[in-house]
Amino acid sequence: CSNSPENLFPTDKPKAVLSVSPSWLSPGTSVTLSCEVEHSSAGWRFYWYKAVPDLSGTSYSYELLPGSINGTEQDSYIIHGKTQTAGFTCRAGRGDPEYYSDYSDPKFVWSGDFHPAASLTVNPDTVQHFSSTSVSLSCEGNSTKWRVIGSINNVFMLQCSILGTMNGSTCNVDRILPVDIVYWCESGSAFSNAVNITGHIILVSPVHPVTEGDSVTLGCKLRTQNVLSNVFFYKDDKLIQNDSRGEMSISAVSESDEGFYKCQYSGKESPQSWMAVKSSSSEKSSFPVLLITGLVCGVLLILILLFLLMCCCRKIKGEMFYIQ
Ligand SMILES: *[C@@H]1O[C@H](CO)[C@@H](O)[C@H](O)[C@H]1NC(C)=O
Ligand SMILES: *[C@@H]1O[C@H](CO)[C@@H](O)[C@H](O)[C@H]1NC(C)=O
Ligand SMILES: *[C@@H]1O[C@H](CO)[C@@H](O)[C@H](O)[C@H]1NC(C)=O
Ligand SMILES: *[C@@H]1O[C@H](CO)[C@@H](O)[C@H](O)[C@H]1NC(C)=O
Ligand SMILES: *[C@@H]1O[C@H](CO)[C@@H](O)[C@H](O)[C@H]1NC(C)=O
Repeated sequence: CSNSPENLFPTDKPKAVLSVSPSWLSPGTSVTLSCEVEHSSAGWRFYWYKAVPDLSGTSYSYELLPGSINGTEQDSYIIHGKTQTAGFTCRAGRGDPEYYSDYSDPKFVWSGDFHPAASLTVNPDTVQHFSSTSVSLSCEGNSTKWRVIGSINNVFMLQCSILGTMNGSTCNVDRILPVDIVYWCESGSAFSNAVNITGHIILVSPVHPVTEGDSVTLGCKLRTQNVLSNVFFYKDDKLIQNDSRGEMSISAVSESDEGFYKCQYSGKESPQSWMAVKSSSSEKSSFPVLLITGLVCGVLLILILLFLLMCCCRKIKGEMFYIQ
């Protein structure tokens, strides 16, 4: 009878943590899986699995990878020649009888390459498309049943139902989060190509120069939706509004408000936009016009004088010639 703490508290299993590198596949690269056991070091053997989508639920079943039936001493495992999106997990075991850690959370390696057995198409097909209110992700291939999975940083996994609605084999995403999400399709046996969809943040600001004394309101947009709360506003890289509002208002714009503005929401920043301020006083605004008119008149006057002078000279020259 074993008295190891692990056996006394069987539900309090240590957990394996898997990391994969690189996350995106390119031809000829090999993938390295690394496994460690949280808060524990020595004496483990490592077991390596590939994830097989289990469409009856929301999870995966795991199949041992070649050569790891008895576990490996090494805490890493290298896979060569992988070209398609795949998921992996690991766990560790030690002792006799063998005591196992929990399986790690699954980690994925993604391929952007289309293949006919499982493919994901995005509509609209540009990731920077601002004019559409939703993005549809369609799965095609030789399966009738699909699910669409999104992953944030290869850590958080999202089902289509969290981001939108599934209609047949299409996921209509209408909740764009301010983060970059990798999406792919899964059938019972296959993984599709993966796509990046970024949650762009844009500053909503006046396109034309604003006149001194006018009021102006800046906002922040996440793709097409206005962000209504907790937006940080920056002017010339300095934080100028940090509260729970989603907008920033300037009731009377002055010259000192001119500058580069940007907004930040949930850790993501918009690109900077220049807000120009033009003066409201009429004398000031007509000043350049007067200056230009003055300059043009001056130049014309000089030209006329030169012309007269030349005419005069020629006349005198002519007279002199005649005399000779
Ligand atoms: C796994 O272990 C069993 C028994 O210990 C042994 O018979 C078998 O050859 C091992 N398999 C591999 C692939 O090492
Ligand atoms: C997705 O983004 C990552 C990093 O940002 C990049 O390495 C990868 O090539 C992109 N994949 C596709 C299919 O665009
Ligand atoms: C899927 O389709 C490909 C060709 O498009 C075919 O070679 C393969 O056998 C099919 N697989 C299944 C499981 O039907
Ligand atoms: C699902 O898609 C079909 C075909 O694209 C469409 O006719 C139908 O209205 C959609 N259903 C819902 C609930 O949106
Ligand atoms: C905004 O203010 C809160 C509380 O005053 C502070 O914790 C937070 O760090 C500020 N954010 C930034 C971006 O400075």
